[in-house]
Amino acid sequence: MADMMWAGRFSKQVDDTVNAFNSSIAFDARMYKHDILGSIAHVTMLGDCGIIPKNDSLEIVRELENISADIQSGKLALDPSAEDIHMFIESELTKRIGDVGKKLHTARSRNDQVALDLRLYLRDEIKNIQHLIVDLINTVILIAEKHTQTVMPGYTHLQRAQPITFAHHLMAYVSMLLRDLQRLDDVYKRMNYCPLGCGALAGTTYKTDRHQTSRLLGFSAPMENSLDGVSDRDYCIELNCAISLIMTHLSRFSEEIILWCSWEFKFIELDDAFATGSSIMPQKKNPDVTELIRGKTGRVNGNLVTLLTMMKGLPLAYNKDMQEDKEAIFDSVDNVKLCLKTFTPMLASMRVIESNMRSAAAKGFINATDCADYLVKKGLPFRDAYKITGTLVALCIEKGLTLETLPLDEYRKMSELFTDDLYNAISLDTCVKERMSYGGPAPDAVAVQIQNAKKMLNDFIDCYE
Ligand code: ARG
Repeated sequence: MADMMWAGRFSKQVDDTVNAFNSSIAFDARMYKHDILGSIAHVTMLGDCGIIPKNDSLEIVRELENISADIQSGKLALDPSAEDIHMFIESELTKRIGDVGKKLHTARSRNDQVALDLRLYLRDEIKNIQHLIVDLINTVILIAEKHTQTVMPGYTHLQRAQPITFAHHLMAYVSMLLRDLQRLDDVYKRMNYCPLGCGALAGTTYKTDRHQTSRLLGFSAPMENSLDGVSDRDYCIELNCAISLIMTHLSRFSEEIILWCSWEFKFIELDDAFATGSSIMPQKKNPDVTELIRGKTGRVNGNLVTLLTMMKGLPLAYNKDMQEDKEAIFDSVDNVKLCLKTFTPMLASMRVIESNMRSAAAKGFINATDCADYLVKKGLPFRDAYKITGTLVALCIEKGLTLETLPLDEYRKMSELFTDDLYNAISLDTCVKERMSYGGPAPDAVAVQIQNAKKMLNDFIDCYE
């Protein structure tokens, strides 16, 4: 094993088990590009401020770019025994350009370096996740547009409640996903401050220009306090929170799809390419994708608890505990991307069985509120109308009828206010069409929701282009 960079103070080599235990390169290697970007900004600033000779700065930048290209092409293999990606790149630099390379780490510590790399890396991942959410929203809207007239039961307590349309139901998820996009924006904004130059914890005596590095790396500003700069991991926790909510939304959507594709509902049929079979039961077609998403939500929430628990007792400033941040947040990032990438085409390819949605809506007395409202519109107080309708529902159940098939004379026994126009008032299509309150299921109201969602999405996309 090569000497550690910090070997000067030590009289022995680190024990192999400790080295392996300590090493984070297996999981922080993915930040190599960001580490190099950060180093390039840092060394450019060192050169501009006259802290190291300009020529040295330029030489270091050139070689760092070569190293980046060589890692990318596979020409330079990572050394798994290196302590972390930061040490690996710095030692490779020195290997290549000798003493000049040793100047890179002037006025910097790995503490501000790792805090920087992680912010840079997660900034990119936020954009990646947002793109995937935009794809999903577009897909959901596309399906919704086809189903503004597709009546289905709306549920509370998973009991049929009131009639809605499939489009209305889908647009609820669009609202959630739009909030997810905004939430990621918020996380990004608060994350976008630069810790580089905070040093180990107490800044530096060199005349550095933290504003320059912050600008070069596209941050809003340098972080205000050097202790906070190296020991803050709020951004990991906030991002994991945002991801947990995305997963919660995907998981609820998944749960509904699992129900909908069961024989008990059969509102949808998954495409064969997005379902799996059973090893023993030949008839089975299982919604594994959605179940896995529901399951993975648990692990992403677990990562959030990992991060919160890791941080809660740490004294300022850096502590090695914080190395554990990466596996947790990377796992959340990887999994939410995987889920979004799989969920979207699964949704796009599923078949909607409108007739089953409609017959489920026709059976559950979901027009009972509308029946009561009919009486109210004819002058009866709502509570009286409610009671009469409840009695009529009980009568229907007893006779094996629905409100649509119960004869008018039975209605009129309960109230003289019932006349022929009742049947139109309680027909499913009327019930949906009349629910035109803002945000409601009426096709016109859902059209507004679709239009507004598209506008929000376009405004969002414009911000990025
Ligand atoms: N691999 C370390 C981490 O992820 C880098 C920072 C190390 N700093 C230190 N003082 N040991 O946290």
